[in-house]
Parts: sequence; structure tokens; C-alpha cells
Amino acid sequence: MTPLVLLLFLGVGGLLPAATAAEERFVFDGFKGANLTLDGMATVTPDGLLLLTNATPQLKAHAFYPAPLRFHRAPGGAAMRSFSTAFVIGIIGAYVDLSSHGMAFVVAKSRNFSSALPGQFLGLVSSATNGNATNHLFAVEFDTILNSEFNDMSGNHVGIDVNGLNSVDADNAGYYDDTTGGAFRNLSLVSRKAMQVWVDFDGQAMQVNVTMAPLEAPRPKKPLLSTTVNLSSVIDDTAYVGFSSSSGILFCRHYVLGWSFSMDGAAPALNISSLPTLPVTAPKPRSRTLQIVLPIASAALVLAVGAAAFALLRRRRMYAEVKEEWEATFGPHRFSYKDLYHATDGFSDKRLLGIGGFGRVYRGVLASKVEVAVKKVAHGSRQGMREFVAEVVSIGRLRHRNLVQLLGYCRRKGELLLVYDYMPSGSLDRYLHDQSRAPLSWAQRFHVIKGVASGLLYLHEDWEQVVVHRDIKASNVLLDKEMNGRLGDFGLARLYDHGTDPHTTHVVGTMGYMAPELGHTGKASKASDVFAFGAFMLEVACGRKPVVQDARDNRLVLVDWVLDRWRAGAVTDTVDCRLAGDFAEGEASLVLRLGLLCSHPLPGARPGMRQVVQYLEGDAPLPELSPTYQGLNMLALMQDQGFDPYIMAFPMTSTTGASAISDLSGGR
Ligand SMILES: Nc1ncnc2c1ncn2[C@@H]1O[C@H](COP(=O)(O)OP(=O)(O)O)[C@@H](O)[C@H]1O
Ligand SMILES: *[C@@H]1O[C@H](CO)[C@@H](O)[C@H](O)[C@H]1NC(C)=O
Ligand SMILES: *[C@@H]1O[C@H](CO)[C@@H](O)[C@H](O)[C@H]1NC(C)=O
Ligand SMILES: *[C@@H]1O[C@H](CO)[C@@H](O)[C@H](O)[C@H]1NC(C)=O
Ligand SMILES: *[C@@H]1O[C@H](CO)[C@@H](O)[C@H](O)[C@H]1NC(C)=O
Ligand SMILES: *[C@@H]1O[C@H](CO)[C@@H](O)[C@H](O)[C@H]1NC(C)=O
Ligand SMILES: *[C@@H]1O[C@H](CO)[C@@H](O)[C@H](O)[C@H]1NC(C)=O
Ligand SMILES: *[C@@H]1O[C@H](CO)[C@@H](O)[C@H](O)[C@H]1NC(C)=O
Repeated sequence: MTPLVLLLFLGVGGLLPAATAAEERFVFDGFKGANLTLDGMATVTPDGLLLLTNATPQLKAHAFYPAPLRFHRAPGGAAMRSFSTAFVIGIIGAYVDLSSHGMAFVVAKSRNFSSALPGQFLGLVSSATNGNATNHLFAVEFDTILNSEFNDMSGNHVGIDVNGLNSVDADNAGYYDDTTGGAFRNLSLVSRKAMQVWVDFDGQAMQVNVTMAPLEAPRPKKPLLSTTVNLSSVIDDTAYVGFSSSSGILFCRHYVLGWSFSMDGAAPALNISSLPTLPVTAPKPRSRTLQIVLPIASAALVLAVGAAAFALLRRRRMYAEVKEEWEATFGPHRFSYKDLYHATDGFSDKRLLGIGGFGRVYRGVLASKVEVAVKKVAHGSRQGMREFVAEVVSIGRLRHRNLVQLLGYCRRKGELLLVYDYMPSGSLDRYLHDQSRAPLSWAQRFHVIKGVASGLLYLHEDWEQVVVHRDIKASNVLLDKEMNGRLGDFGLARLYDHGTDPHTTHVVGTMGYMAPELGHTGKASKASDVFAFGAFMLEVACGRKPVVQDARDNRLVLVDWVLDRWRAGAVTDTVDCRLAGDFAEGEASLVLRLGLLCSHPLPGARPGMRQVVQYLEGDAPLPELSPTYQGLNMLALMQDQGFDPYIMAFPMTSTTGASAISDLSGGR
């Protein structure tokens, strides 16, 4: 698999000055021993894969062919040479349907990308340089995230970029399948499968074609993208060719398996059979023998045992649990699956309360007539289970009237069931954002805010160890019969940590509730909880989500709006208009200003929960906002830091959440 670097003399060679003898045609069937200029996270793995990004968040990676190439027919002239390239890429993320940012094939004047940003900027530009003609940058992006600031069309697209990330042409990743008469077939960039891409540029017609296909498939006749773009002043006389990518907050690996390039002619074909292969990730495919033997064996067994035994078996399996010796110590917290099954009518859809980030939640009635909520969480492996269960049990000991009490758990193969107190009034977000319900009064809102603050104070300060909640938001606040706010899901976000590489932090959270420092450190803290609580207070008072996307795709960040009205001396203008002015002015002003204070971009400037409770109870006067903070714009601030608002805006669907947990723990 040694890389084959060919030197080709073409007829056109005569047109060019003798000094341009750089190899203008090369093939890397794998990158073992390849002479590439790498920077950032980029490395070549021992088996010859070019690994651009690893699991480190918010970093850049570049890999370039070491010598610059000549792109113009004559130095200084407008006429351009044609070029053609083929390469195979693969993206492996922590989730099968959600990834960190994408990658790009690049032709650039300079290899110095020190001023470019990671995250959505793909290591190519920054917010200051995006689109600037002085970039002299041509790229084909494979973008896995929809960034509205670049007018992206979807979270799985291929785009032709000139000097910036607002693509001149783009389409959803896919190909026109010639075996089915040219029908369009989608490809998922984050599918963890290798795919081949061809980029062809005709220097005379100034036409760029981008074609892609699954690795094993032949090259489709019709390109995915075909567009005319005059690259004469974009690509300089000489330029470098290579790849760029960057990581955001989620764990993700970008690979290039092979690459060929040619000036003035078609790129040499890659030898697919000699390319290195992408690492296999969980779930591991079963071995072929097992796949054949297992069904036959079990069928034979079932036949032999007979119908009566079969019924017995089925009954057993239905209630089967996974129980290990160490769990004996957690005895009283363990529920039997049978009890939970009966309590929830066999997890019937009629009993479904909602679907959240971690799975489905059902209402149940135990034999003792106690109403419970049973949360089913998919969990792929046993790894980290012991720690997790220990944690569940320790969380079960947390008791506070503003926390949703965890009663216990049950464990089955691939599944964990968590049993909570049932909250008859459901979650707060429905009262805030469901227009068909009567709005909560100001007094109710203030009561809920104070309740949640005291629940969070208990988690942070009053218990034997600090519990960081990590996912405070209106949908995690449930209301009991007396309309007390109760914080749910505490500690659950830590599920993501178990059974995974301790060096990678998986940020769990929701856009608008996530403190800016999480973008760099990914480390949740008491201060990041306070930030989320600030966003929560504003949401409750204003009746608006922390980040709203309007019809024209503009993002409105609630903090920015409240800050703006506060500067204008009319902060209570922002109070939910559904209250029709019926609220206590002093309390509303206190909540809004405290919300701003908690939302301070610097973690050190935010108050602690003890202080927050004192301010809310009127036991201490609220300090003024600092003058530097008053001038800020949160959205701009987050974007400047390469903080990625999109990831946070991505609502964790049930499938994402569930697969995330199993993928992460089953992987290594
Ligand atoms: N203890 C409970 N009592 C009543 N309803 C609950 C309880 N826990 C969750 N729910 C309902 O189930 C839905 C999903 O819950 P959850 O998984 O906690 O959502 P998320 O992950 O979005 O926070 C909630 O919106 C809520 O309506
Ligand atoms: C890599 O390529 C560059 C530019 O062509 C050359 O200067 C350098 O010597 C090469 N390095 C190796 C190890 O071949
Ligand atoms: C890269 O460019 C930056 C300015 O953008 C400059 O400070 C730095 O020295 C350059 N690095 C190299 C290796 O040329
Ligand atoms: C483009 O970049 C150049 C040099 O970096 C700068 O002088 C110029 O103002 C930029 N143009 C725009 C429109 O930002
Ligand atoms: C391909 O994906 C896009 C975007 O997800 C979707 O709108 C379209 O219907 C899909 N097309 C096919 C043929 O599946
Ligand atoms: C691009 O594709 C079109 C349509 O298939 C084809 O006519 C044209 O020759 C292609 N151009 C290049 C540069 O490959
Ligand atoms: C491309 O643009 C240059 C000027 O930047 C112009 O001289 C040339 O004619 C254009 N080429 C085509 C094919 O339009
Ligand atoms: C492709 O690689 C395989 C395995 O390395 C080799 O046997 C085969 O001859 C190669 N094919 C071509 C066309 O080079």
C-alpha cells in the first residue's frame, strides 16, 4: 500500500515554463508514508488513514500536498488550467444521525490558516474573513450541520465555496444512480460509511462538477453539482491543494482514505481494494457464522421444547431482567420488571406521558396505588453500569420538595428503567408555550422560580456532595398538584460519561441554556447551571424560549432583547404579554435583572445559588450590572468564540438520545 506518486508529462507541458516541474499528478491509495503537510489535529494512522479530526473539541486540522501547484496557463494571465481530483472520505461521529461539523477539499493560496476558526468555520475562515476576496480560497464542503448564518440548505449537504462558507452552489449529499435510470439517492455524510467524491474543473468553460457515490459503486454519469464559476481571480497562479476540517463540541472523526489529483486531465482512478478501511464502530456486526447458526439452533430448540415450554419461555423472557451480584447492595431501590410492566399496562401507548431526550416516559400505578412515572432509557452495554446504578441510588437519596423524587430503577438487557414520583401537572414548558392553555399567573411563575432556585441550591450546596444538574430548562421543570416547580432529570446527563473515553467530554444541553464557556471547556459546573437558571428565569418571565428563530431565520436571543430593554430603562416591557400587564412590577424587575446577572458571559461574575435565593427572597439587594456587560451582545459573543449555536439548538429527539447512549458505551 505504498503511495504511488506518478509524474506525468503531458503535451501541455510545453506551454508551461520549465520551472513548474512539480508533480502535478499523484495517487495516494492510503497515506502510509505519504509526504503531506499536516497541521492541527491531522495525523496519518498506522494503517494509512488520514485522520483529520479526533475527539478533541473545537480544534482545526489541515492536510496539504506539500508542493504548490500551478493553476494558471501563464503567470498573471486569466486563462486557467483544468484540474481533477478524486478522494474517499468517511465521517465517524458519536451519533449515527448527528455529528460535529464537516470537512472540505480545499485549493488555497496559503497554507496558513492560523486566523481561521474551528467549529462551523471548518478551519477555513473566521466570521471576520468569511467571503473576503483576499482569501483566495476555493473549497468543496461536506457539511453535516445546518448553519443559518451561511444560508446552509440542510444538515447534510455538499457545497461549492468561493472565499467563504456561503456556498455558490449546494445540494443534499447524494448521487444519481445509473443502475436505476439515474434516480437520485440520498447519502448520509455521517453514516460512518466511506464514500468517493470526484471534483472536476474545466478551466476553459470555468465549470466545476462535483460527483459522489458510495465507495463500492461506480462513478455516476450525472454530477451532483455542476456550476459555472470563474475561478480566475479566486485561485492564484500557484496554490496548495488539500483538506480542511474542524471539530465542534460533539465527538467526531473525519477521515480521508485515499486521494488522487491531476492537472490537465482526469484524476487517476483510486484502487478501492487497496485503500485502508474505516475503523468499525459499535454496534459491532455479529459474526457471519453466528448469524446463520443462531437462528437455526434457536428454532430447533423451540421445536424440541414444544408449545407448552415455549409459552413458559415467552413469559419468562417478557419479564427478564439483568441482575448482578453487586446489585444486591442496592436492593431496596430495585424494582421488578414485572411490577413495572403491570403498573404501566405493558408500557401501552395510552400511558405514554411524553418522549424526552433520554427516552419514553410512561405513567404507572403500582400495586400499592402509588402513581409513578417510568422512564425507559436505552443503554447498550454493561460498561459503566455499576457506576451508573450507584449514582442512581445516590441520587435516590436526594430529597427536596422542589426535586422530582427518584424512587428506584430496574435493569434489563439494553434498557434501564427509572422510576420517579408522578407529577400530575406535567412539565412547565407546556404552560409557557402552549397557546391553547391558560397562561400561568405572575404569582404562580414567581412561586415556580423560587421553588426551582431552592431545589438547585440544595443540589449545589446543601447535600453531602455537589450535584451539577447540567440540563436546567423549562421542560425539565415539572409541576406537582400544588403547582410547585420541581426539577427533574438531575444527574441523568451524567449518563453520557459512563463507558466512554474519560478524556472526551460530551456536552449535554440545550441552546440558549448553555453557558458560553462550555464551548471551550465542555465542563459543566455550578456556574454553568446558574447560567441555565438565568435563561430559565427569563423564559418564565417573558414567556419566550431563550433562542427564537423567526420566519426569516434570524436568531433572537432572549438575553440580548431583555438587556436591550433594560438599557432603555423599560425592562418590564419584556414580561409575557399574555399576562396583559397583570404582574407585580417590583418582582418582575427583580427576576429579569437577576436573569441578566446569572446570564453573565463570565462564569466568575455570576452569583451563586445561595445568593440567587437571597435576592429572590428579598434578603439581600440585587447588585447593579457591570458597565462592560451592559454593552454586550450574547449572540455575537458566542459566535465570535467559535461557539456553536446550532448544536445546542438541535433538539435531542428520542432516537438521538437513546442511540447516543448505546453508541457511546458500546463503542470501545
Ligand atoms: N415524573 C413525571 N411525572 C409526570 N410527567 C413526567 C414526569 N417525568 C417526565 N414526564 C413527562 O414526560 C416528558 C418527557 O420527559 P423527559 O424525558 O424528562 O423530557 P426531557 O428529556 O425533554 O427533559 C415530559 O415532557 C413530561 O411531560
Ligand atoms: C516532501 O515534499 C516537499 C515538497 O515537495 C519536499 O521539499 C520534501 O523534501 C519532501 N519530504 C520528504 C520526506 O520526501
Ligand atoms: C500565519 O499568519 C499569521 C497572521 O495571520 C502570522 O502571525 C503567522 O506568523 C503566520 N504563520 C506562518 C507560519 O507563516
Ligand atoms: C478583506 O480583508 C482585507 C485584508 O485582510 C481587509 O483589508 C478588508 O477590509 C476586508 N474586506 C472586507 C469587506 O471585510
Ligand atoms: C433526501 O433527503 C432530503 C433531505 O433530508 C429529503 O428532503 C428528500 O426527500 C430525500 N430524498 C430521497 C429520495 O430520499
Ligand atoms: C460536468 O458535467 C456535465 C454534465 O454531465 C458535462 O457535460 C461536463 O462536461 C462536465 N464538466 C466537467 C468539467 O467535468
Ligand atoms: C474570468 O474573469 C477574468 C477576470 O477576473 C476575465 O478576464 C476572464 O475572461 C473570465 N473568464 C471567463 C471564462 O469568463
Ligand atoms: C489494487 O490493489 C490490489 C491489492 O493491493 C492489487 O492486488 C491490485 O493489483 C491493484 N489493482 C490495480 C489496478 O492496481
